[in-house]
Amino acid sequence: MLVVLKKDYDEVSREAARIVAGAVRSKPSVVLGLATGSTPLGLYRELAALHRAEALDFSQATSFNLDEYLGLAPSHPQSFHHFMEQNFFSQVNLPRHRRHIPDGTIQGDYDAYCARYEQAIKSAGGIDLQILGIGRNGHIGFNEPTSSLASRTRLKALSRETIEDNRQVFADEGEVPRCAITMGIGTILESRRVLLLAAGRSKAAAVAKAIEGPITSSVSASALQMHPDVTFLIDEEAAYSLTQRDYYRHVLEMTRLLTPERLS
Ligand code: GLP
Repeated sequence: MLVVLKKDYDEVSREAARIVAGAVRSKPSVVLGLATGSTPLGLYRELAALHRAEALDFSQATSFNLDEYLGLAPSHPQSFHHFMEQNFFSQVNLPRHRRHIPDGTIQGDYDAYCARYEQAIKSAGGIDLQILGIGRNGHIGFNEPTSSLASRTRLKALSRETIEDNRQVFADEGEVPRCAITMGIGTILESRRVLLLAAGRSKAAAVAKAIEGPITSSVSASALQMHPDVTFLIDEEAAYSLTQRDYYRHVLEMTRLLTPERLS
């Protein structure tokens, strides 16, 4: 597990973009796992800039998003489809037919739909690089506390905390989603590499539990401790509650010196 500490959100975004761009350049047919939320916005902005300025080419890439709210059409301004279109897909050349986001409009047969999403990931060769944010309650994707650490893509009821967080951005109370379709923790753990981004003091407690706490379904991000190639890329505020910051800096220095390919 690599913990990379950065000064602020902009540095986190630039470093994340460097890593994703490196993955795209070294394997043009890369399969990316993508996340929504305010955290990866800077990453998407940086990638779009690299696409424009340096012709970073997504034409052979494939993407799978982590999740989508149940009941929201792709055109809904709060849907993750809309988010991805606005903030990333409209800015780069990732072909439409290779972008995948769970369909929030399905009604019934959820298990069959989710099994097909899992199958599509497998058919694409599995996810090479999974981008993650982290919820204030330590969730990844929408794997709310007590999600099975072996869970697969499925319909998931949202926690009260997540519903409250969302309430602020939905104009109409009746529209606030209660459920989502999300990749499972087991699905995420099968990605070849995981990059979790976090910024801001509001994430400090969740980040500390994920990195230094026990592995528990109460904090789904703590399951990443079992992943052989995970990087936590976090700013000073999000790192606030970590007790071993000096050690993480030492590990990073040694990694730069001895195994720099791990940072590429
Ligand atoms: C939602 C998403 C997560 C995301 C989290 C944090 O719950 N399902 O994937 O990591 O929000 O969002 P933000 O980055 O806006 O803090």
